[in-house]
Amino acid sequence: MKAVSVNYDPIAREYSTHRRAYPGLVEHLAALVPEHGTAAEIGCGTANHLRGITERVDCTAVGLDPYAGMLEIARAAGSTATFVQGVADDLSPLGIAPGSADLIFSVDMVHYLDDPSGYAAQAWNYLKPGGYFCTATDSEWIIRNRQPMTTYFPGTVALELGRHHALERLQQAFGAVGFVAAEQRVFGEEGMLADASRFRDKANSVMHLLPEQEWRDGLARLEADLAHGPVPSNNRTCLLTVRKPS
Ligand SMILES: C[S@@+](CC[C@H](N)C(=O)[O-])C[C@H]1O[C@@H](n2cnc3c(N)ncnc32)[C@H](O)[C@@H]1O
Repeated sequence: MKAVSVNYDPIAREYSTHRRAYPGLVEHLAALVPEHGTAAEIGCGTANHLRGITERVDCTAVGLDPYAGMLEIARAAGSTATFVQGVADDLSPLGIAPGSADLIFSVDMVHYLDDPSGYAAQAWNYLKPGGYFCTATDSEWIIRNRQPMTTYFPGTVALELGRHHALERLQQAFGAVGFVAAEQRVFGEEGMLADASRFRDKANSVMHLLPEQEWRDGLARLEADLAHGPVPSNNRTCLLTVRKPS
């Protein structure tokens, strides 16, 4: 698999307008961090999830992302977290001691890595024994059943399958680094969508990979259907959790 990179700087504003934490995910992750513990989000973007953790737990929180535009919005949103620029293959910018983190996690980031093993090895180094390494990403089932994306922009299915690592492969790669006790759990919601602005603004990075005409055609069909009323919608992620043995 070849990771397809997207430049998030020019789309940071649209991203922060439309993207929110997955329902239930912040609460779940926050419960893995003890009071006065340490949590790091890799590819934190505008910090939807990390900020939510700092609102629930008094902890040291660090967000890392390659794009200054995303970090600027994360900082402006206000939280006790620290934000640093960097990439998943080198976690030294986190500024935390090796063996000190209770939780290292990512949400919708791991598909940007050609080989997630290097990232997993870095996380292993910075986690405490017993620490959690959590990866929220799209499973094949989530990609094939995403609405209204697959109905109006069917070309996104092949694009998403092409750039996402299969969960089984991630689990294997993390196991090879030494992580144990793998668990998978789906978070998210189903509902109805009344407004096409998220698709007009290309708030999902895959919309930037779709040929322009396909995007225009899909948007026109979506807007035409929305004129008659809301359409089915869902927003899901699968969390793969592994632990560094105690
Ligand atoms: C879809 S956004 C998710 C942002 C955030 N985690 C959230 O849930 O809203 C993907 C993020 O991954 C970041 N990213 C891309 N390549 C990365 C890499 N090699 N290392 C770390 N983060 C990366 C992007 O800058 C972007 O902020």
